Amino acid sequence: MKKILVTGAGGLIGSEAVDYYCSQGYEVTGIDNNQRQVFFGEKGSTLFRLTQLKDKHKNFTNFEIDIRDKNAVLSLVKSLKPNILIHTAAQPSHDKAASKFICANSNIDLYKSILKLSIILFNSSWVLKIKIPLVSKNLPILGQP
Ligand SMILES: NC(=O)c1ccc[n+]([C@@H]2O[C@H](COP(=O)([O-])OP(=O)(O)OC[C@H]3O[C@@H](n4cnc5c(N)ncnc54)[C@H](O)[C@@H]3O)[C@@H](O)[C@H]2O)c1
Repeated sequence: MKKILVTGAGGLIGSEAVDYYCSQGYEVTGIDNNQRQVFFGEKGSTLFRLTQLKDKHKNFTNFEIDIRDKNAVLSLVKSLKPNILIHTAAQPSHDKAASKFICANSNIDLYKSILKLSIILFNSSWVLKIKIPLVSKNLPILGQP
């Protein structure tokens, strides 16, 4: 069975990918620590969606790893050896990212570390021969054009 790793598995894009690939018979592993709730409060929680996906698909497992935890992520990638990686974990709001409030509270570090992890995942994908068909990142992660 083909294995696929989806970061941001409970989010808008990640959860659709999980649902689709599970229904196609893939073994799907997610990484999502519900950071969305930290960004947006109770209403932003992804727990409901993650539970829904786990109930619906026996071939879906989620790990509550923080994608900024390089060692934990790489250890999972190495043990799982996914064929495909879909990387969507992020802070998705342009407004939030652009606000001085967020920057003043050192979320710059958060973006830097998410970007760093993205680069690490890219580099390890060459070594581990993983295909990355989708990386969904926005202005705060990739920078102002
Ligand atoms: N939704 C869209 O229409 C759209 C369009 C273009 C680009 N994008 C970009 O795609 C990315 C994902 O968008 P989305 O709408 O799915 O966002 P989302 O907030 O719905 O999903 C992101 C998921 O990542 C998880 N996450 C965040 N930080 C994490 C961390 N440190 N460790 C583990 N999990 C973490 C969150 O809990 C959340 O479930 C963003 O960069 C967004 O800007 C989204």
